[in-house]
Amino acid sequence: MLKICFVCLGNICRSPMAEFIMKEKVAKLDLKNEFFITSRATSYEEDGNDIYPPAKDILTRHNIPYEKHHSRRLEITDYNEFDYFICMEERNVTNALRIFNEEKSSKVIKLLEKDIADPWYTNDFEITYQEISEGIDKFIKDIEK
Ligand code: 4NP
Repeated sequence: MLKICFVCLGNICRSPMAEFIMKEKVAKLDLKNEFFITSRATSYEEDGNDIYPPAKDILTRHNIPYEKHHSRRLEITDYNEFDYFICMEERNVTNALRIFNEEKSSKVIKLLEKDIADPWYTNDFEITYQEISEGIDKFIKDIEK
């Protein structure tokens, strides 16, 4: 089983979107039992909070089911629990490595080479959805190789 943790700043927009998009993709591929998928924040900014309503709306528009969510910050104890920490942008990588007390790690990667824009600031949830979906398709293809 591959254990995956998506990471963003607040864990109320991009990383929970990625969590539920990937859960739906692996369910459709009949690979649900091969993965454990969750998400975390690099900050305590939104600690305990549910997915931001516009992020829920875009998931619903794309027929992606989601569940009740509580924003949770990444902790050093998470490091050994996952195979990959998939970050939305470069500063998530920097902050995750700082939390883990690691200089670098092949476990801490970016979903796409480019940074995925934060819809909390851009308000463009559709672009974020498309970029996350593209990144997950690429990730699934890569690990199938
Ligand atoms: P996210 O977006 O990192 O995609 O969940 C954000 C949500 C909240 C904040 C920052 C980013 N915030 O500072 O509260």
